[in-house]
Amino acid sequence: MIFDSTLIHLIKSIHIATVVLSGMGFFVRGLWMMNQSALRNHPLVKIAPHVNDTLLLVSAITLAYLLKISPITHAWLAAKIIALILYILLGMVAFRFARKQSVRVMAWIAAMFTFAYIVNTAIHKQIWISHLV
Ligand code: HEM
Repeated sequence: MIFDSTLIHLIKSIHIATVVLSGMGFFVRGLWMMNQSALRNHPLVKIAPHVNDTLLLVSAITLAYLLKISPITHAWLAAKIIALILYILLGMVAFRFARKQSVRVMAWIAAMFTFAYIVNTAIHKQIWISHLV
């Protein structure tokens, strides 16, 4: 139906927009963390990622529902979800739990590789990286 495909396009656009914001925000927060910028403690910087990531997740689940795909039948979607959990955990290490700067930076870099893997998996719908993004 035309309505369905328009809705899928809309939700996919929201998903991709929140993905871009999440990736850019994560990168910039890492730079602020490394040069100890006061901006990293701004209330907006603490709240905005949560709002955006909630939208990212809601759009992702809605998209999977509308396209009738599930992590049980589509391995690439399962891989994406596992990698998303890893990305969240690495982000928590980088920005919250790690005390040593070297550990923070390593977690931040590992999280960005994980993010790139998720994007690659989303585009090629394959678990293994067979193409560059
Ligand atoms: C940081 C996390 C995520 C990133 C970076 C990401 C990235 C992307 C990108 C770039 C696309 C567009 C692919 C294309 O059509 O060219 C996409 C589509 C999609 N994503 Fe995500 N995504 C993330 C999380 C999730 C999660 C958690 C789910 C599932 C619950 C999900 C489900 C989907 C679905 C169903 C599509 C549409 C695939 C299709 O067109 O057949 N995404 N994602």
